[in-house]
Amino acid sequence: MVFDSHRIIAMAVAPAESIASLSSDLLYDILRRLDGPTLACAACTCASFCSISKEEILWENVCSSMWPSTNREDVKSLISSMGGFRKFYADCFPLIFNKEAGEYQWNSYLEYPDDWTEAEYYGDMNELERISPSDFVSIVDIKFKEKPIYSKVLWGIPNADGYDAWFCNCPFRIDLLSCADRDDTNDGVVTLSVSDGLPPISSMEREKKDGKLWQELRDGLLLSWIIVNKKIKQSANLASWSPLDGQRHWPTDKDFLFRFGSVLSAKDILPSQVVQCILIMKFRVVHTGQEGVQTTLRSTELSMQLEDMEGAHVNGRNSLLILKKALSCRRSKNYSEVHESCLTYSRAQNKLKEEKIRNESRFDTICILSSIVAVMTFWCYVL
Ligand SMILES: *[C@@H]1O[C@H](CO)[C@@H](O)[C@H](O)[C@H]1NC(C)=O
Ligand SMILES: *[C@@H]1O[C@H](CO)[C@@H](O)[C@H](O)[C@H]1NC(C)=O
Repeated sequence: MVFDSHRIIAMAVAPAESIASLSSDLLYDILRRLDGPTLACAACTCASFCSISKEEILWENVCSSMWPSTNREDVKSLISSMGGFRKFYADCFPLIFNKEAGEYQWNSYLEYPDDWTEAEYYGDMNELERISPSDFVSIVDIKFKEKPIYSKVLWGIPNADGYDAWFCNCPFRIDLLSCADRDDTNDGVVTLSVSDGLPPISSMEREKKDGKLWQELRDGLLLSWIIVNKKIKQSANLASWSPLDGQRHWPTDKDFLFRFGSVLSAKDILPSQVVQCILIMKFRVVHTGQEGVQTTLRSTELSMQLEDMEGAHVNGRNSLLILKKALSCRRSKNYSEVHESCLTYSRAQNKLKEEKIRNESRFDTICILSSIVAVMTFWCYVL
């Protein structure tokens, strides 16, 4: 937003009567130009700002600049039916923050018996019956260097029509680029080129050395993946806005992979208590900047899945339970705190992996030793 927010703050701390003397049209005009955080902040400073900032249209503008997909008529009426744009903003601007991300209970994890019965494992069956995949809506927006490059709205969960055993028990995954949506003119391909602000690269060899493209992508990409449950009228942002990490030149030389996501609570749903919601965005270089063509990237994947502490994908049934729970979980506006908790989770996960590998190799050693002892004992006996 072009408006100078320092002026607003200056006005906010000015004597109350000078603000009261401003006409409400002018106040409205000022507030109209603010972005979300400044608007929320201004609303707290005085009574006149506070009452005007309740205007839905202000928040509708804020939402549409933050999430271009909220411009669509179907999304607008969805948001209105859920309590309005102000509430939507308050629910989806702060990111999901899981304090327990790092305080993972190793011991309680191991105490769970392997042969849990279905009912124990899947928790309250009545609750399951109340969850319907068709109540979920995904509202996804990607920006590069603050400019919107892709928006998609997905009603329901793909492949979950019957909510059958196949969906419930198979690993859950939504791939936005592969699900063809009837009412979507945007046919699922995102391209990025020099005109979007990409740095031109002359060859992949050069890029491998200096990593210029990689750096700009990592710093410039923003992803928002809002999930809404229209029945319970709640929504939350599952993404981390900026990438948590990524991989250069993977799986092929021309690919870049970025991981966004959040740590979600799976209390009373899965023994691991927490899971990670992993959002993957992949880009492939289709042209380097040679022979008069522009450096161009095309998206090859935009997907969501949930992964437990051991790296196993969560099935459809549990994923829906976890997603529903995520809609009412704690959030934070402090994005560095949120990112820190995601990294803490990854560190804990790596530690668990290493420990498992160590235990397995220890177990292998014991097996080998005991079989050697057995063979020797056998031969001693025979001889
Ligand atoms: C945000 O979180 C970080 C890391 O936890 C902390 O150091 C910082 O003080 C917090 N900032 C605010 C404004 O609360
Ligand atoms: C590895 O083995 C130790 C001791 O045998 C045990 O306490 C620990 O829980 C095991 N860790 C994993 C991840 O299996």
